[in-house]
Amino acid sequence: MSASNAQRFDPGFPSSQRTALSRRVVLKGALVGAGVLALPQILGACGDDDEATTTTAAPGTTGGGTGEVTSTELEVFSWWTGGGEAAGLDAMIAIWNSQYPNTKFVNAAVAGGAGSNAKAVLAQRLEANDPPDSFQGHAGAELSDYIKAGQVEELNSYYEEWGLGDVFPSDLVDQITVDGKIYSVPVNIHRANVLWSNPTVVADAGITATPESFDDFIAALDKVKAAGKTPLALAEQWTVKHLMETVMISKLGAEAWAGLWTADGDWSSADVTDALEGFKTLFGYVNSDYASLTWQDAAKRVVDGEAAYNVMGDWADGYFTELEKTPRTDYDWAPVPGTAGVYDWLSDSFTKAKGGKHPDATVAWLKLCSSKEGQDAFNPVKGSIPARKDADTSKYGVYLQSAMEDWKTATLAGSLAHGVVASNAWNTDIDGALGLFLEDKDVAAFQDALLTAHDTYAV
Ligand code: GAL
Repeated sequence: MSASNAQRFDPGFPSSQRTALSRRVVLKGALVGAGVLALPQILGACGDDDEATTTTAAPGTTGGGTGEVTSTELEVFSWWTGGGEAAGLDAMIAIWNSQYPNTKFVNAAVAGGAGSNAKAVLAQRLEANDPPDSFQGHAGAELSDYIKAGQVEELNSYYEEWGLGDVFPSDLVDQITVDGKIYSVPVNIHRANVLWSNPTVVADAGITATPESFDDFIAALDKVKAAGKTPLALAEQWTVKHLMETVMISKLGAEAWAGLWTADGDWSSADVTDALEGFKTLFGYVNSDYASLTWQDAAKRVVDGEAAYNVMGDWADGYFTELEKTPRTDYDWAPVPGTAGVYDWLSDSFTKAKGGKHPDATVAWLKLCSSKEGQDAFNPVKGSIPARKDADTSKYGVYLQSAMEDWKTATLAGSLAHGVVASNAWNTDIDGALGLFLEDKDVAAFQDALLTAHDTYAV
């Protein structure tokens, strides 16, 4: 990053105010775990066969200097159907509809937080050579799966044409690049390690300070339990993995966390055992019906005053905003205890699928995703900070403004549950192990299974 970039507002990956070494190590861990550094150059030129039509774009909106948009539709695949998430996508669809009234936006979103159902549907479609035009893929290891499989196209020429070289944090671009080729457009940066709380429930339980360490957290949970409310609202299995990741980062620290995703990662260590034991402890404080809840159900229990805490990504802020809740009054936030100064990050990015039927519209969509207008419409509603470094901060609410501040100085840790540090296949093995753990709560067996998964996939 250049000095001039670092001086202006920069939610990017600035290294000036944090330890550059740890930041770099943490990111490298993600890249090596993803196999990104070792990937060969695999993709060729665009081979789309467009459905040519006679449709014209609205005046002055020709897909960003890439030619007129003549396709009659654009199919975009994501998993944003629920509270807060659909609203973010809708904000971009509204811009699309005003710019391209003759090109129908086909919203192919598949319900299920974190892509728990969507990724399987997407895999089937890609396998069957029936790709949507553009699909959501997390920056990092998850995107590298699609790159390795030759399922997404290189976008370098558009980055050049749209002047994107400078607008995204360079280390984020590294996470979507293989051998100098860039394969997606990041729309946002999310934070996963957020402890959402209900200020009234917390105060009524006699908790006077925000828990800062894992032990503080357990003490606070005990107080809520004694007061008769649900201490920690939890939902379906991907949210359990999300919780586990934040506990591991809390117990191990960001650097050791990053190391776990490298070939040398030591999953058999006593520190990992301790982290998993800590994670197990939390099951003494969660709602018993968690397996049947969505992330929105669990988050809502906090703002409804039924539960004190919920660990969830900052898409929860988008949901609370949609519910018209007041920040700092109806809900509050803090880093997951033990993770202050760490940004457990992930980034949603959109691709140009190889073999997509509407390449002209896809390029126009990606240009919208990359634009300041698009990002400043999407992110304030979605509950994420923009990937672009030149956002109009006045458009963002109290939580997101605080997240932008934190981002400037935080040490980064890549998310497991949201595709940064481990491939889809590695995640699937971890999901299987976690499923068994939820049945038997056998930490030793769980740790063994996690070690096996590491040895299978780490490169
Ligand atoms: C993440 C995704 C977020 C949010 C969340 C819950 O994987 O990156 O944008 O949608 O899942 O569904």
